[in-house]
Amino acid sequence: MRLDKYLANATDYSRAEIKKQIKAGEVTVGGSIASNPAQAVDENSDVILHGASVSQPRPRYFMLYKPAGYVSVTKDSEHPTAIDLLVDEPRSEQLQIAGRLDLDATGLLLITDDGQWNHALTSPKSQCNKTYRVQLAEPLADAEKVARKFADGVWLNNEKRRTQPAQLKMHSATEAELTISEGKYHQVKRMFAAMGNRVTALHRERIGAIVLDTDMEPGDYRPLTEEEINNV
Ligand code: URA
Repeated sequence: MRLDKYLANATDYSRAEIKKQIKAGEVTVGGSIASNPAQAVDENSDVILHGASVSQPRPRYFMLYKPAGYVSVTKDSEHPTAIDLLVDEPRSEQLQIAGRLDLDATGLLLITDDGQWNHALTSPKSQCNKTYRVQLAEPLADAEKVARKFADGVWLNNEKRRTQPAQLKMHSATEAELTISEGKYHQVKRMFAAMGNRVTALHRERIGAIVLDTDMEPGDYRPLTEEEINNV
């Protein structure tokens, strides 16, 4: 990694500010004053800024209970973002959301600054199961038939393939639990719309092996455990 990126990652300085510090002779690498911001360094390099050793921060992983009314992108001109709820975290601008939820949806969002982990979780190849609690506008007619259709895969408008097999469980005539392994745009809402119904509330409970804590309130977040990070 470039020296200026290494330092910007690990401190509150921007790359431009770091370049100025390098120019001013405030940075040493392996005991020698650095002059080239592009100098290659890694986590084993002895990098010192203003006389203090600088190491790369450990990657961070959080579960957040997303409230309704927050968007799952890092910047938005109209609505608050899920990342705004973690604004007290240092370097919050480096955090990314692993898998979106609609503006009106609630529940489990995973947030990290580990791009590889994010990709492994959200790439279409990962086929990671996600479980949603769904409130329907109308009692679901012929739930067993719908469950079979979802298990076989349904055609959604403007899609080239059927949806992957999904598991439907009904908790009452209007309360469903649906587990899907993909993340097509508005997928759960569109699957129920294809059955002639409408989703009035959507809450994500689980992503892979990670389950939203039942004692969390909307807006709460916590770091993931090692086990959760490794077993997602
Ligand atoms: N399916 C939806 O329709 N919306 C979401 O936010 C997630 C899955």
